[in-house]
Amino acid sequence: MKVEDIKKIAVMGAGDMGHGIAEVALLAGYKVTMRDIEQRFVDRGLSRIKESLEKLLEKQKITEDNKKAMLANIETFVDIAESVTDADFVIEAVPEVMDLKKQVFQAIDAAAPRHAILASNTSNMSVTEIASATKRPEQVVGMHFFNPAVLMKLVEVIKGEKTSEATMQVTYDLALKMNKVPVRVEKDSIGFVYNRINAPTAILLRHIVEKGIAAPEEIDAKMKKVGMPMGPYELMDYVGLDVAYHSACYFADKLSRDYEPANWLKAKIDAGELGKKTGKGIYDWSKGRPEIDLSRAKEDFDPTVLIAIQVNEATKLLEGGVVESADEIDKAMINGGGAGFGPFQLAKGIGYDKLAKICDELAQKFSVKVFEPTETLKKGNI
Ligand SMILES: NC(=O)c1ccc[n+]([C@@H]2O[C@H](COP(=O)([O-])OP(=O)(O)OC[C@H]3O[C@@H](n4cnc5c(N)ncnc54)[C@H](O)[C@@H]3O)[C@@H](O)[C@H]2O)c1
Repeated sequence: MKVEDIKKIAVMGAGDMGHGIAEVALLAGYKVTMRDIEQRFVDRGLSRIKESLEKLLEKQKITEDNKKAMLANIETFVDIAESVTDADFVIEAVPEVMDLKKQVFQAIDAAAPRHAILASNTSNMSVTEIASATKRPEQVVGMHFFNPAVLMKLVEVIKGEKTSEATMQVTYDLALKMNKVPVRVEKDSIGFVYNRINAPTAILLRHIVEKGIAAPEEIDAKMKKVGMPMGPYELMDYVGLDVAYHSACYFADKLSRDYEPANWLKAKIDAGELGKKTGKGIYDWSKGRPEIDLSRAKEDFDPTVLIAIQVNEATKLLEGGVVESADEIDKAMINGGGAGFGPFQLAKGIGYDKLAKICDELAQKFSVKVFEPTETLKKGNI
């Protein structure tokens, strides 16, 4: 199959990501089906698409005719088999639970046309394991969009152990047709690129609070003073402390016990304080975005430590052949979030030797192996 052969895209799940991905596919001119487990969830997903298209119309990014055509191009379903029966490409965006994903893949494998590619929007999980639930693992691939899918440019295209080169190419080309910036992930490794490189930051944030080095607001104030639009703890609240907690558990299980979530984070989850979505987390969100008191900035906190652990983690992906080049990693990190520069671009300005020294100190100070500098970072020949 070539990308030109794709006419209809089926999206499994109409939640935050599913409705966004369906809208991206509509904007690219495809016929779309969107499936969720209950009518009210599909209805909600569809009304979120309508609201978003309305905003694009107001901003004159689309015309009234475009909007009408797109809404005529989408069909919603609760029945899983019906939703994929004539799909050329299926994108799954159901909750991040392996057993659930496998069930969905088994069902879509049984009902989708033989030529169809089946993609998962999983954030962290093994594409190879998901593919094992199907009889067509060579046509199963990771297609990882970022939130909100309509705005964020990065799409990670992930090769499972059995994914064919043809499947990788069609998926890459489809991301381009959707006006995205695809990055090839050559090996199915935990967290892929963007989430993996950001993961060690959570370890550091945990220890800073646990060891009483600083309060979240003191770090956030400092980071805002140096130009970050949002401090790292505020960002955790914004994304959801439950998301941070579940990712930490998954990374701890699959990569290193260093990722084990903090007790303070677990206490927040148990208390139902999940951040922005519940009105309270690390901060109080009940009156909107928290006001960070910049006068509380911890002035002796050096933001370079955050860059150091990112660059170090990124070198592990190069060493493991997960991504082909440092430039590809920079491309992913710039397009997956709001950063103006990629980690390797920043590293060149700071110096690899300095970053390696910082990682070494952090590893010893907190007894965290994940922070230990890699050979690549120490040599600096990137
Ligand atoms: N939210 C993010 O920032 C983000 C970013 C990138 C990737 N992801 C990944 O995307 C996936 C979906 O996340 P989300 O944030 O959209 O979750 P969500 O909870 O907002 O939406 C998931 C939807 O899937 C539905 N669902 C459950 N079982 C289903 C089934 N068997 N068939 C069809 N639909 C089913 C749920 O009813 C819900 O509407 C996860 O794998 C997540 O890790 C999330």
